[in-house]
Amino acid sequence: MRLVVAYDSTYGNTRRVAEAIAESWPSERPDPPVPLRDLDARRLDRETLLVVGAPTHGHGVDEDTWRAFERIPHERFRERLVAAFDTRFDMGRWITGSAARSLEKALVARGAIPIAPAESFFVAGREGPLEAGELERAREWGRRLHTLAVEHAVPRVVAMPRA
Ligand SMILES: Cc1cc2nc3c(=O)[nH]c(=O)nc-3n(C[C@H](O)[C@H](O)[C@H](O)COP(=O)(O)O)c2cc1C
Repeated sequence: MRLVVAYDSTYGNTRRVAEAIAESWPSERPDPPVPLRDLDARRLDRETLLVVGAPTHGHGVDEDTWRAFERIPHERFRERLVAAFDTRFDMGRWITGSAARSLEKALVARGAIPIAPAESFFVAGREGPLEAGELERAREWGRRLHTLAVEHAVPRVVAMPRA
């Protein structure tokens, strides 16, 4: 199972989370995360988990991030395994909003299959830094995504009763 991490980031915090997720993937040479605007949609195939991350702006996704996301033909997401994350302030989601939730909804609307609920990683201020422990939490999340992606990708073998 391969991993493609695509992100947007103004101050670098979401990029650092994206890098931590990519590093956690059990592969000798993990692909480095790519800015969402540079994502080559042909990389999204059945053997790939797409993880998309963005900073939360104005309770959701920034206009530039949407533009980069919208450029990808909708059918490219159909039946693809995905997970979304964001960075935001560490307060109730009803106060801060969540870019990850908006991305997740858009992915589902395009037929993608989220393998885990949208996740948030927290910044201490508008420009960061990330709160203590968030990169480790990102690595843990990445490892969990790997387990879930493998489970989703492997068709279950059903034992048939002998005639
Ligand atoms: C224009 C702007 C709007 C923002 N709006 C929100 C918001 O609605 N909720 C929130 O939790 N954080 C908000 N933030 C803080 C961002 O979440 C924070 O800048 C981001 O997590 C940093 O990620 P980055 O370093 O990858 O850009 C906002 C930041 C900016 C610059």
